[in-house]
Parts: sequence; structure tokens; C-alpha cells
Amino acid sequence: NTGWMTATDQHPAQDSTTPTRTATKRTVLMCRPSFFTVVYRINPWMDPELPTDTALAVRQWETLYQAYLDLGFDVELVDPIDGLPDMVYAANGGFVIDNIAYGARFTHTQRQPEGPAYMDWFGANGFDVRVPVEVNEGEGDFLLVGGVILAGTGFRSASDSHRELAEISGREVVSLHLVNPSFYHLDTAIAILDDSNIAYLPSAFDEPSLDILRARFPNAIIVTEEDAAVLGLNSFSDGYNVVIAARAKDFERQLRERGYNPIGVDLSELLLGGGGVKCCTLELRR
Ligand code: ARG
Repeated sequence: NTGWMTATDQHPAQDSTTPTRTATKRTVLMCRPSFFTVVYRINPWMDPELPTDTALAVRQWETLYQAYLDLGFDVELVDPIDGLPDMVYAANGGFVIDNIAYGARFTHTQRQPEGPAYMDWFGANGFDVRVPVEVNEGEGDFLLVGGVILAGTGFRSASDSHRELAEISGREVVSLHLVNPSFYHLDTAIAILDDSNIAYLPSAFDEPSLDILRARFPNAIIVTEEDAAVLGLNSFSDGYNVVIAARAKDFERQLRERGYNPIGVDLSELLLGGGGVKCCTLELRR
């Protein structure tokens, strides 16, 4: 049940108030977790004492990869590198818009070599690479909604990177302050559903940021703490189909109610590294 039909083509709306949603084909970059493991702790989800199962991580990641192929996405792959266990979280590899790839500069030393690795891939694949001056973790903290970039700071990306990206992209960049260490990247606290709709977890933000979100997105979906705690917001939408954590049941219900088509996947092994669906996905906008 995929493709580019609208919600009403596929499932007659339950009532006249359910909006019609339209899917747009996406191009994304992913990285197979061949070397995934948890050997350091740079977010509260990670515990090097707990065992990880790399083969299971790969199998779960394959289900996400297959879900995107089933949706008709173009999925490109960057080679994983031994010794960079977090490279599977491709969202952090950069931010790509209008064929410009703004590179990442990681906060923690353990991930710093990923910055050049992703920039090499962008360069080799025809993107106009911009080497960052400021610390930033790519699409983990930069989310495009319509023509505006929502940008997170507080734990990883420096607020100076927001200005740097605004200059490079020519887009409006709206800074939001994250306050809960469990939701340390913006993509763990906000889901972009389409050009004008988002879902978010209010407790992840400070008051001035909440004022901004409420003013700009009065009809946003508010998710439960329970759904956020399985990284339910860490999802990827094509405007109609929304790939989410299968365990985020209330978010699933709210999406359905609003005319979206939620598709649940289980990435429990990758959750041990503090990442979910969106973390494994970098959108390529040529
Ligand atoms: N272990 C990784 C880190 O802490 C997880 C990154 C998750 N990625 C994301 N886009 N939220 O950096």
C-alpha cells in the first residue's frame, strides 16, 4: 500500500474533516550498521556494559531500508567504516539542500572522523560540499519544514552553526533550545510530517522555544512522554507515509487520525545507541 496516491485514493477518509495527504518521492542516504556496537557513552541511551548484537542491528536496519524501497524512495548507501560504530546514524553526516552539502563537525571526539567520511561521499556524488567551521551534527539538529530550517542547540550543534547554515543555505533558520539530555538531537524531539505539519515533545524544549513552536505550528501533534521514550518522534515522512517506531502506539493513532499512513519498524538494537528511524536517514535534496 505505497506509491504516490493520496490518502483518499487509498483509504476513503473516515469523515469529511480528515485531510488528504500527498506522498512525495524521497531520496535518502543510509549506512549499513556492519560495525555497530556501543563502546562509549555520549548520550544517556548508551551503556557500554550492555551487550549489543551487530547481526540483529543489521537485520533491523534492513527492514527500514526495505520499507523505504517499498515506498519507492531512492536509497543511496555510504560504506560503513570499521571503528566508527555510530556511522549508521547517517542523519548526523550533514545537511543537504539545493545540492549543497553542509558538512558535519561532531561534538564528541569518538564521532569526529565521520565528518570527513560523509563529506567525501557528498563530494564523490556530485554535491557542492561546504566544510563547516562551527560544530554541528547535520540533520540530527537541522530539520527542513516547508522553506524554513528548524535548528536545535543545547547538547550537540552550536548555535553559531545555525547562523552558518543560514548564510550557506539562504534559508530562514529558527533556533530551538533542547533541555532534556535524553532528547539531545532535534530529530529526537520533533518529527516533520510535511511542508507545514510537525509533531513534538513539549518537555524537550525551553519556554522561549515552546512559544515559537506554538505560534508557528498551532495544530502540531503533541506526542506522549511514553512514545518519545521509544524515540517515536525519530521518524521519516514522505508527506503521507510516516515510518515510525512500531512501539509508538499513540503517535501511530494520532497520525492515522490526521490522514497519514504510519508504518511501524522495530529498531530496538539501534535504540541502544540512542538512535531510531530518522537518525538512520539523511535526506538528499538535489
Ligand atoms: N550514538 C549516537 C550519538 O550519540 C546516536 C546519534 C543519533 N542520531 C540522531 N540523528 N539523533 O551521537
